[in-house]
Parts: sequence; structure tokens; C-alpha cells
Amino acid sequence: MSIFSSKMPEIDIADIQLPTHIGIIMDGNGRWAKKRGLPRTAGHKVGAETFRKISRYCSDIGIKYLTVYAFSTENWKRPLEEVNTIMTYFRDYLNEALRDFADDTIRLKFLGDISGFSKDIQDLMRENEQMSSVHKGMVCNIAMNYGGRAELVNAVRKIAKMAASGEIKADEIDNTVTEKLISDYLYTSGQPDPDLIIRPSGEYRTSNFLLWQSAYAEYYIDDVLWPDYTKNDLNRALIEYSKRNRRFGGV
Ligand code: FPP
Repeated sequence: MSIFSSKMPEIDIADIQLPTHIGIIMDGNGRWAKKRGLPRTAGHKVGAETFRKISRYCSDIGIKYLTVYAFSTENWKRPLEEVNTIMTYFRDYLNEALRDFADDTIRLKFLGDISGFSKDIQDLMRENEQMSSVHKGMVCNIAMNYGGRAELVNAVRKIAKMAASGEIKADEIDNTVTEKLISDYLYTSGQPDPDLIIRPSGEYRTSNFLLWQSAYAEYYIDDVLWPDYTKNDLNRALIEYSKRNRRFGGV
């Protein structure tokens, strides 16, 4: 497949070293709406459409894992009307995925504390995970009520319980075992760490996204606001990523 934008030479995707796992912080919905004199929720509506397009594109070009940051543990602090509208967009998407994704290859997974959502949304999340669990294509992780610190606290709590019950011995834990053990108790258990994390909207922050997993991720910051984000913008990030020299602390 050839990827092309007017600003760059045509590049054959077969020549590019694609990341196995991409993370995206879907940021800039509010500013997109404000620039147009619209309510913030209008930005989330278009942002949800962008998510549909970009996740489909990632699957089409052979990305194995995509993690999108849809709602953080801190986002509950937003005005109730905004939160409720975002919940409506989640509900719409989850219903649509249940209806349309049965014959798809994408596997949906949710990262975060799902107990924070209304019962109907929790049920839809579980049904989607179950329905798509047999799919063999891209794993699409949607981080909802997710926070990297909360995820680590959750993992540590589980490990502490195992230590207390004698299932693991505290003095047997060395660095390697501890790192593997912690990874095993994160929401992303069994998945490779992200190789590339894209943050649209020009903000230079991690915002509590995949804190542990992003230790060696390549960051790509883009000025484009999420609702305006296109396949070409992703292509630019992929091309840049393919040129990075990843050393993982080595030389
Ligand atoms: C960040 O932009 C975006 C959010 C907190 C919500 C993201 C939600 C969606 C994209 C819609 C639903 C998603 C799915 C999976 C169907 P912001 O509001 O912080 O933007 P700002 O920084 O410009 O204010």
C-alpha cells in the first residue's frame, strides 16, 4: 500500500518499519469546537468519528495493537453535561461495534476501571470484549476511566495480596521478576509495550497515559487537533518513527 500526502514524496508502506503498538492521546476536541464557536461536545462528536477512521486505517495497514486514550480518571471533573455527552458517544460506538464488528477482525479491549461507568455501558464493554475475543486482527485498546498511576496502584495492590498470602515471597523479588510481575498485572497484560505514542494538538505532556508501558516509546507530537486528524497525519508520524534510532538505553 502506498501512502502519500501533498507535502511528502510517495512512500511505499512496505518499505517502512511499522510500529507494532501505537498509542494515541486523542486531544484537542474542545479547542477544535471553540475555534468554530461550537460547544465542546461538538468537538467530541467529530473526535469520535476521527477515532473510527483512524482505528480502521491502523487495522488496514497491519498495525497489531492500537491504544487510544478516550477518558481519563481525571476527566470526571469536567462539567456534567460534557461528561454525559461523551458517555452518549461511548454508548453509540459500543452499540455500533456490537452490531457491525461481529464479522470484523478487530479485537476490542478496555483499559481502566470499568466499575466507574453506568451498568449499561459496563455491559456493552463486556459484550464487545467477549464478542471480539475470537478475532485475530488488530487489538484496539480503548482506555476509559484510565489513569497510569491508578493502573500501577491496582497492580501493586494485587501483588501485595499475593505476598501477604505467601503466593510470592517478598525476598525472592529481584528487578527482572518485579518488572515482569508488574507488567503482568497491568490492564495491558500480555501485550507488547507501545513503540510510538502520538499526541495531536501540540501539547507536550504524557497526561498519565501508559506510564509504565511507555518507558521506551517514541513520542510524536503533532499540532493538528484530533477532530482534524487524518490518515496523512498518521502517515507522517509513521514515516518519522521509521527514521528514529531506538537504542533502549544501549548505544
Ligand atoms: C480530549 O480533548 C478528549 C477527551 C477527553 C474525550 C475523548 C472522547 C472522544 C474522542 C469521543 C468518544 C470516543 C470513542 C472511543 C467513541 P479535550 O476535550 O481535552 O480537548 P482540549 O484540550 O482542546 O480541551
